Amino acid sequence: MSLISADAVSFGYSRRQPVLHDVSFEVQAGTNVGLVGESGSGKSTILKLLLGLERPGSGAIRFGDEVLDLGDRGFMRRYRRAVQAVFQDPYSSLDPRQKVEAIIAEPLRALGIPGPHRRAIETALSDVGLPAEAISRYPHEFSGGQRQRIAIARAIVARPQLILADEAVSALDLSTRIRIVDLLKTLSKSMTVLLVSHDLAVVAALCEEIIILERGRIVESGRTADILARPQHPYTRKLLASVPRMPA
Ligand SMILES: Nc1ncnc2c1ncn2[C@@H]1O[C@H](COP(=O)(O)OP(=O)(O)OP(=O)(O)O)[C@@H](O)[C@H]1O
Ligand SMILES: [Mg+2]
Repeated sequence: MSLISADAVSFGYSRRQPVLHDVSFEVQAGTNVGLVGESGSGKSTILKLLLGLERPGSGAIRFGDEVLDLGDRGFMRRYRRAVQAVFQDPYSSLDPRQKVEAIIAEPLRALGIPGPHRRAIETALSDVGLPAEAISRYPHEFSGGQRQRIAIARAIVARPQLILADEAVSALDLSTRIRIVDLLKTLSKSMTVLLVSHDLAVVAALCEEIIILERGRIVESGRTADILARPQHPYTRKLLASVPRMPA
């Protein structure tokens, strides 16, 4: 059974401008999926729908076989525990006035998980390769790559089933990007990653499956190896031709 799925989802921020057209896909537990497409193709919009920040105009998002229902508090509590997100900008996504301890504890508090949280925070820090002493420091004391590790620690602290990562490595320099992709790969042994990226090289390094989005429509999807070897759609070929290769 799928972990999360979109069934014929259409959506627009306004009635006059549809952004997603009849989008359907499944994410299976244990299979990382890359969502790829040019700027404005609707990648972040899909994540907003998956996070319950926007509602589909038509169609449905499902968690297992349950339709995502923003009005059902019990369901949303389970859902928010299962699905966590990491965003692009490691500078703006962490509150500069909070210590790392409070930042990482945020999902535990939001989910009402009883404390003390210190053990869980220390485990999350260690999982992302940060020293235990980071717990009492502030975000400005860390590099961009380390901040992204803090954001990832926050996303994994409640042991979600799915991590939604929106361009989570795009703002990082190449060597840091490779290390964070490696980290996500290690973490994906115990959780599934849905990675949004315009960078096919990053997706190829992490994801077993790819969904290619063009102007709000899925034009191609399947096993990463197949799509890279035999892209069927002209848009996919164009994307493939335009990316630099990432060193293995
Ligand atoms: N809050 C919003 N209000 C109105 N239109 C929006 C809003 N957010 C995005 N859009 C529009 O929806 C379309 C898809 O945007 P989206 O942010 O999902 O693209 P994206 O694939 O994530 O692009 P990028 O790679 O640049 O992040 C674009 O035309 C964008 O202008
Ligand atoms: Mg985006």
